[in-house]
Amino acid sequence: KKSIYTLAIESSCDDTSAAILINDKVLSNVVAGQPIHEEFGGVVPELASRAHQQNIVPVVDVALKKAGISKEDLNCIAFTQGPGLMGSLLVGGSFAKSMSSALQIPLIAVNHMKAHILAHFIDEEGYDKPTFPFIALTISGGHTQIVKVTSFFDMEIIGETTDDAVGEAFDKSAKVLGFPYPGGPLIDKFAKEGNPKAYQFTKPKVDGLNFSFSGLKTQILYFIQKNVAENPNFIEENKADICASIQQTIINILMDKLKMAVSETGIKQITIGGGVSANSGIRKTLKEAESKYGWKTYIPKFEYTTDNAAMIGIVGYYNYLENNFSDASIVSKARIEF
Ligand code: KG4
Ligand code: ZN
Repeated sequence: KKSIYTLAIESSCDDTSAAILINDKVLSNVVAGQPIHEEFGGVVPELASRAHQQNIVPVVDVALKKAGISKEDLNCIAFTQGPGLMGSLLVGGSFAKSMSSALQIPLIAVNHMKAHILAHFIDEEGYDKPTFPFIALTISGGHTQIVKVTSFFDMEIIGETTDDAVGEAFDKSAKVLGFPYPGGPLIDKFAKEGNPKAYQFTKPKVDGLNFSFSGLKTQILYFIQKNVAENPNFIEENKADICASIQQTIINILMDKLKMAVSETGIKQITIGGGVSANSGIRKTLKEAESKYGWKTYIPKFEYTTDNAAMIGIVGYYNYLENNFSDASIVSKARIEF
């Protein structure tokens, strides 16, 4: 079997990433983060594009070096076409186009959301891959989707958020508690010591498999304001219980919809991806669902759940096998059809 070397570029948000794959195995996966956004409490698009432009060439060089190959060995270049921040996407997209044109190798445009799902097919020692069909839950700072996946190329969104993403629900709640951005990991950390039933928050009423998280944020804000008015030390004294209760509410919302998705589709294989799948409460709940509901759940390595180029590369590789190449006139898209 011929060895296919894929260079993958991901630049949809605030991480500049390049990966090299040999067939479905990752040789290198380099991610340059952008700490500049921390002081602004969120990603600043203009600053993100500038940092991508600064980082893209060095990141690709390091990825090639780490993989131990030279650019002449490459068979194709895959890049994130969208969805994401336009200025960020343009940097990765233009770079990928120029390089494919210079090397005269195929260019493959990849949908970032599909890549989060297909990241499970990266060949890793000891990692069990899902089989089709399965249900994919993608949860991050920018996304919340439930997708029915029937093949590498056939996927259908069966549920998504109507407002905020799950990660935003974590980060905005954390902000109310005075935690620095992004606060999701801190809620996770403090929740470990707390009682998840200490405080009750109502779950939003949303039809079908869709989600809504903006009401929860407002509810938490009022809850904190009311309690702090009565006791200025309320947050400090009850931090663990507050975090555990917020996290449990979010987990319950996700689990309700997953259960509904399983009963509607009859599919019991569940995969998760996106930065929020690092949450220890979510991981534990999904593991427990295996014995509780007879599901089989798949949680990939952390490196492949957050934004990374390796997941773009695996999609690139499967498209390469099918000769699904993109034309040089392809354009980046902030919003993109699935
Ligand atoms: O996938 P990601 O790195 O970037 C995108 O948003 O695309 O996800 C980042 C999000 C942030 O909202 C962050 O707070 C959240 O993932 N996150 C967590 C945890 N680790 C990261 N949320 C809850 N618990 C965690 N352990
Ligand atoms: Zn993402």
